[in-house]
Amino acid sequence: MELAISCRNLCKTYPGKPPVVAVKNLNLEVRSGSCFGLLGPNGAGKTTTLEILEGIITPDSGDVQVLGRSWLTDAKWLRSRIGIALQETKLSERQTVGETVTLFRSFYDRGMSPEEAIALVSLEGKTHARLSNLSGGQKQRVALACSLVGDPDLLFLDEPTTGLDPQSRRQVWDIARSLIDRGKTILLTTHYMDEAEQLCTQVAVVDHGATIATGSPRDLIRAHGGDHRIEAQFSGVAPQLDAFLALPGAVTARVEADQVWCGTESPHATLPALLKLLEVQGCTLIGLGTRAATLEDVFVNLTGRHLREESMR
Ligand SMILES: Nc1ncnc2c1ncn2[C@@H]1O[C@H](COP(=O)(O)OP(=O)(O)OP(=O)(O)O)[C@@H](O)[C@H]1O
Ligand SMILES: [Mg+2]
Repeated sequence: MELAISCRNLCKTYPGKPPVVAVKNLNLEVRSGSCFGLLGPNGAGKTTTLEILEGIITPDSGDVQVLGRSWLTDAKWLRSRIGIALQETKLSERQTVGETVTLFRSFYDRGMSPEEAIALVSLEGKTHARLSNLSGGQKQRVALACSLVGDPDLLFLDEPTTGLDPQSRRQVWDIARSLIDRGKTILLTTHYMDEAEQLCTQVAVVDHGATIATGSPRDLIRAHGGDHRIEAQFSGVAPQLDAFLALPGAVTARVEADQVWCGTESPHATLPALLKLLEVQGCTLIGLGTRAATLEDVFVNLTGRHLREESMR
């Protein structure tokens, strides 16, 4: 297995009063030709990790290999082989799309033509438009074109779709997929679990500067609570957590006041038993739902917290 990125025991503390430990013994392996997602809440250390891998900041300690090389010895070569789309790209609003991408092309000795990069992000019709006249989604695609114009082997995308409308997000996903089809490797960060599930073959869940789980979205979901979630709301005194965990097929359970979330591999077995349990306990059912489990559930299962505050239930 060829690795595009490998890092071991990565550490980074920002000095200050008090110092901020941003990355703490983080390990990561990204296979060549894959789309890998770093998931984690605000402040988890995703951008810091990316900036270390991009050669923008130096770690305090740890081994970093990018495309089989080290930033300490091969910085120039690495810079010519990677593409970067920062979490916030400040491009000149007065320049046209064509001028902007041409400027970025001039930074590289090799690469594709600006026209080709613009076509890859489907902005041919906007080549002569000023950035000030583009939508947020179109600007994001210009930033992507700038990161692509050096024809990189490895692309870093820091929250490529944050703040975009659903249609623009899907356009960015299509671009990412087409790049993977062309043999590129992508490392992206995201708060959106559906994005990770759609795009990434492997993900690492990052919390407090360390990876707390790694695997394919499907394997992680399976391993942390099963494929399905049953959610029930009721009135009355909740049964003990152990009673839910003992239900047939139940893998995990969480009880909060008048609500229970139960992870299961066999909803057809768990659901009737759960309803019976509530009935025997004298609880009255108020609401009931089943759904496919998501990476968000994995995060909640691992940390007891939600990835994004707005997804708090
Ligand atoms: N230049 C800096 N100086 C001091 N502290 C910093 C700096 N950059 C980041 N931090 C701190 O390091 C921690 C990790 O930040 P980082 O930007 O890597 O998180 P993140 O996972 O990318 O978060 P987000 O999802 O909000 O983008 C945070 O506590 C942050 O406040
Ligand atoms: Mg960030």
